[in-house]
Amino acid sequence: MHDLSTRSVLVTGASAGIGEAAAHAFAAEGASVALAARREERLEAIADDLTAEYGVRTATLPTDIREEAQVQRMVDESADAFGGLDVVVNNAGLGRGSDVESLTTEEYRQMMATNTDGSFFTTRAAIPHLKESRGNLLFVGSFAGQYPRRFNPVYAATKWWLRGFAHSVAAELGESGVAVTVVNPTEVRTEFGSEDGEPLEERFEAGEVTEPEEIADALVFAARQDRSTVQELDLYRRDKFSGF
Ligand SMILES: NC(=O)c1ccc[n+]([C@@H]2O[C@H](COP(=O)([O-])OP(=O)(O)OC[C@H]3O[C@@H](n4cnc5c(N)ncnc54)[C@H](OP(=O)(O)O)[C@@H]3O)[C@@H](O)[C@H]2O)c1
Repeated sequence: MHDLSTRSVLVTGASAGIGEAAAHAFAAEGASVALAARREERLEAIADDLTAEYGVRTATLPTDIREEAQVQRMVDESADAFGGLDVVVNNAGLGRGSDVESLTTEEYRQMMATNTDGSFFTTRAAIPHLKESRGNLLFVGSFAGQYPRRFNPVYAATKWWLRGFAHSVAAELGESGVAVTVVNPTEVRTEFGSEDGEPLEERFEAGEVTEPEEIADALVFAARQDRSTVQELDLYRRDKFSGF
């Protein structure tokens, strides 16, 4: 198993929710953590917390994941800050709208640009560093990318794409010693959904569904693997299949 205190980690979407929790979880293991998202002040505040709580090295990288050049810079600067990159967490993502009939083209493009383009740009830029470190490439997928579902098929399709991409990248990179993992949550209490209305952290009471820290722990478990690969890890709320 990897000793994560010697590893450097880049987390996208680190300004909130699962990404913020992942940054904490990796820092708690002593890892150096690069935090990327658009909201710079939040990244700075979280990085200050990580340094104060765990004494780890951090880097903050204000990035719009939809912008190819910004993503390349995000990856290059993370690797420069820590002398390489061992773990990359493709986490930034969002859902907009609901049914296909009423989905605007703008909502469609936002989901595609963030969830699919952003993950592609990040992965492409990260591969040389991960080959060098024989590192771990992690994706936050979703239950929505595993089963057909009537609520927001386009969001679901971005997550089906993500899983297909991740598993195929695993086939491409396995011989290079890079491990690729997809972690699939059901509902997690985060800001997810806030752009269109009620965020999940307000829709559900504590204890009703998964907390971001539980997904963060799953990501840490996958990143510890130094020989085998945690290919896919489903972390569902316990009552997910009630009434299915
Ligand atoms: N919450 C759930 O129930 C759930 C379930 C399954 C899967 N997921 C997946 O988990 C991942 C994290 O979501 P979350 O629940 O933690 O949601 P969240 O609390 O809304 O956090 C989303 C993160 O993504 C970042 N982000 C969004 N657009 C971005 C962009 N254009 N460029 C850079 N960063 C961007 C946000 O940062 P900025 O706004 O600062 O840029 C934020 O840090 C997503 O991929 C989501 O699809 C969530």
